[in-house]
Amino acid sequence: MTTYSSKPDPDRIWQDLTTLSSFRDPDSEGWTRRSFTPAYRAGRDYIRMRMKEAGLTVSQDAAANLIGRRPGRDRRLPPIWIGSHTDTVQGGGRFDGTSGVVAALEVARLLKENRHELAHALEVFDYTAEEPTDFGISTVGSKALAGNLSAEMLALQDGTGRTLAAALREYGGDPGTISQTARKRGSVAACLELHIEQGPVLETAGNILGAVSGIVGVRRFRVEVEGRADHAGTAPMALRRDALAGAAEMILALETIAAACGEPESCVGTVGRIRIAPNAANVVAGVAELNAEIRTLNGQLLEELSSRFLSACRQTAARRDLSVQLSTLSHTDPVQINPEILALVRQACEEVTELTQEITSGAGHDSNQLACFAPVGMIFVPSREGRSHCPGEYTDPRSLALGTEALLAAVLAVDGRQAAPGELP
Ligand code: HGY
Ligand code: MN
Ligand code: MN
Repeated sequence: MTTYSSKPDPDRIWQDLTTLSSFRDPDSEGWTRRSFTPAYRAGRDYIRMRMKEAGLTVSQDAAANLIGRRPGRDRRLPPIWIGSHTDTVQGGGRFDGTSGVVAALEVARLLKENRHELAHALEVFDYTAEEPTDFGISTVGSKALAGNLSAEMLALQDGTGRTLAAALREYGGDPGTISQTARKRGSVAACLELHIEQGPVLETAGNILGAVSGIVGVRRFRVEVEGRADHAGTAPMALRRDALAGAAEMILALETIAAACGEPESCVGTVGRIRIAPNAANVVAGVAELNAEIRTLNGQLLEELSSRFLSACRQTAARRDLSVQLSTLSHTDPVQINPEILALVRQACEEVTELTQEITSGAGHDSNQLACFAPVGMIFVPSREGRSHCPGEYTDPRSLALGTEALLAAVLAVDGRQAAPGELP
């Protein structure tokens, strides 16, 4: 058994995270690096450079997924995938997604430094556009890998009229050959993702690593409400067709439906984005457009709650003499982690620290899509005060290094050797 010359280096990991977070939109709050923006390109150029320095052969597929490959000894074996995403939400933090990409880079460096050639090839991913994009859909790169990125989705436009296909082309993709990106079951040995928890569970329990047992499913809707713009001073209340007041009722209906769920389903419902017109202080709103989403670990319940919400919208519209257009933007199924992978990931975490527990994910991830064709495993590291998707998002360097060590141990386990971290087979 050869021994590692080094464990994951917290300073190197922190340096990558700090440099990556410097690529941000200077006019936005927090560490904003929206997909398909100059900051996103600069961040990916940095990752590309670090992949090459880690000895990886770098490429991009038709969905612009950034891939660094380390060949394995046995070419007959499918690759092991590790990675996450480098795009952020508007006003986001430094750790969501980036932690998983940087940890994967560190794993590649350690394999190189220890001249350890795995049996399987290793592919490090920065999956394209995991966060909800201005085109209205999320997990763009992993959707393509799962064969779920449709022609209709490629034709979706952002506020400037640019299509998703054009954006992919601008950022290294080739939308015309997207269908060739789709992977078949068996073509990837396993997909492993380190990610911040984005919730308070690990920190509250005093644990450092979470072996993820399940990931919520998410359904996202566009709700377009149309009433009639009127003078705010002269339009009598009884005669108004106020699109914003109607939308407000729909938002509260979603909140009531989700809150009534309770445990153990722990479903959530959110409207985080609204556009109204004409959006003037002294005009009754004629139009209101909402992006609504519902999440739960229970697929059947997700369907039930969705239809309950959609009928509440229709009833509100009818009562208020409004018209309402309801469309599903995306539908991602919940994921129960394959018990064998869960046991392997849990053991990898426990070898690193006994401050390990099983945990479910209230956030959606690229792993939801990857689970369509490969066994997926996720490792969580703590989020301070459970905060995420905000500038206050924080995970300490030691937890990131321990998470990276567990990621490496999981890779080695998947590669068919259960090696204690710090020792190579
Ligand atoms: O929305 C989510 O759950 C993820 O952070 N994209
Ligand atoms: Mn996120
Ligand atoms: Mn994420």
